[in-house]
Amino acid sequence: MNPLNHVAIIMDGNGRWGLKYKKSRNAGHKAGLNTVEKIIKETIKNKIKFLTLYAFSTENWKRPKKEINFLFDLLENFLKERINELHKQNIKLKIIGLKNFSPKLNKLLNLSEKKTLKNKRLQINLALNYGSKFELINAFKNLQKSKEKINEKNLSKYLLTKNIPDPDLLIRTGNTRRLSNFLLWQLAYAEIFFENKLWPEFNEKDYNKIIKKFKNIKRNFGKI
Ligand code: IPE
Ligand code: IPE
Ligand code: MG
Repeated sequence: MNPLNHVAIIMDGNGRWGLKYKKSRNAGHKAGLNTVEKIIKETIKNKIKFLTLYAFSTENWKRPKKEINFLFDLLENFLKERINELHKQNIKLKIIGLKNFSPKLNKLLNLSEKKTLKNKRLQINLALNYGSKFELINAFKNLQKSKEKINEKNLSKYLLTKNIPDPDLLIRTGNTRRLSNFLLWQLAYAEIFFENKLWPEFNEKDYNKIIKKFKNIKRNFGKI
């Protein structure tokens, strides 16, 4: 049975779900938050130590302003309402991505990270304004500046995922089979599961089914 230490998720399909059932993409984003809660709970039950959630990519700025504002309002309200509860549950929150949002949201994100910094049960990495190519270019630049030897170990120190083990498992919901600029370096050896369901309809049972399959995969890492 494979150990499972880190799950990464591309939470895709909110917009389509919202349009289909509520005639609004934003209603889909709201519904997607319920799935986030369910999956956090189930991740804890499965004793998984790291959960990385792709919430907003560097490319998502190309969406209509109204949708972008809705997404960040949703995030702000979620954190305001839930951060104490997450803290009580011994969950550490880390943002991966460039925090260049409104001063109010930047402050809330920093406070949430600071508050939960020492928590140990589960680390949630929220990929926000995250893009893998941007991350890699930055990492190479900083590594070059440091004059350290250019190798895998040293490069990893300059990634946004510094000190976080690589994901063992990547799940993308929403019936789309691509990586969309997510953790290109870190996913080098991840097991990848594409799920047809849209994110708001993905549930604990679907998640556990994937985990079970993952545990039985023969992971070679180049060996036989
Ligand atoms: C993913 O759902 C969530 C974000 C990118 C914020 P989408 O909004 O991409 O949903 P679809 O793919 O358009 O259905
Ligand atoms: C990827 O989903 C980003 C997030 C889930 C946050 P998108 O729906 O934005 O990806 P593309 O643009 O369709 O590849
Ligand atoms: Mg999408």
